[in-house]
Amino acid sequence: MSTLTIRSAKPADLPFIEAIENRCFHASRRSSLRALKHSIHSPTQSVWVAVGRLDEKRQIAGVMILHHHLLSIRIYSLAVLPAFRGSGVGRRLVHRAVALAKKTGRSSVTLEADRRNKVLTEWYENFGFKIHRILKDYYSPGRHAVRMRLDINSALKGGRVRGRS
Ligand SMILES: CC(C)(COP(=O)(O)OP(=O)(O)OC[C@H]1O[C@@H](n2cnc3c(N)ncnc32)[C@H](O)[C@@H]1OP(=O)(O)O)[C@@H](O)C(=O)NCCC(=O)NCCS
Repeated sequence: MSTLTIRSAKPADLPFIEAIENRCFHASRRSSLRALKHSIHSPTQSVWVAVGRLDEKRQIAGVMILHHHLLSIRIYSLAVLPAFRGSGVGRRLVHRAVALAKKTGRSSVTLEADRRNKVLTEWYENFGFKIHRILKDYYSPGRHAVRMRLDINSALKGGRVRGRS
């Protein structure tokens, strides 16, 4: 998507970010408005929005929440509105997280993903993320997650799956 802009979120974006969370995540996995507000103002977190164009109108297409640790950056949350999916918005946000980790001297980017969601874990593997650990009962009893990690020095690829470049 050529008109896509990635920028740091502002308090005025909160209603749009909350709407994306509600649209993209099950109630048990959403951040509350209070938590989103905290993420925007926290010195150890950052919130990024991807702004794209739909029907001649610019709007927030995707959101990414990062947690900044001493040695790593964790992608805490990543979501793209269904109308914008499949055109590289998610890929651009992941690239931003990796670029930020590189720029600030972190050695890795980490994230958690649903172990059963193979499409998602393969998508992350295309960037160079590798499954590092299984987190048993992470979401609820019997619903496990994988912790994935990208070592900053490993090559960053496209983030596409099914053989597309
Ligand atoms: C995962 C997600 C952020 C990808 O965003 P995107 O803008 O569509 O990503 P890109 O356009 O860069 O890449 C598209 C690829 O994502 C992959 N993908 C990964 N998980 C997917 C999912 N749950 N639904 C649809 N596509 C998904 C597809 O393989 C797709 O490839 P294709 O275009 O060849 O079909 C988006 O699908 C989403 O918001 N999903 C729901 C929330 C979620 O699961 N977030 C991740 C939590 S760790």
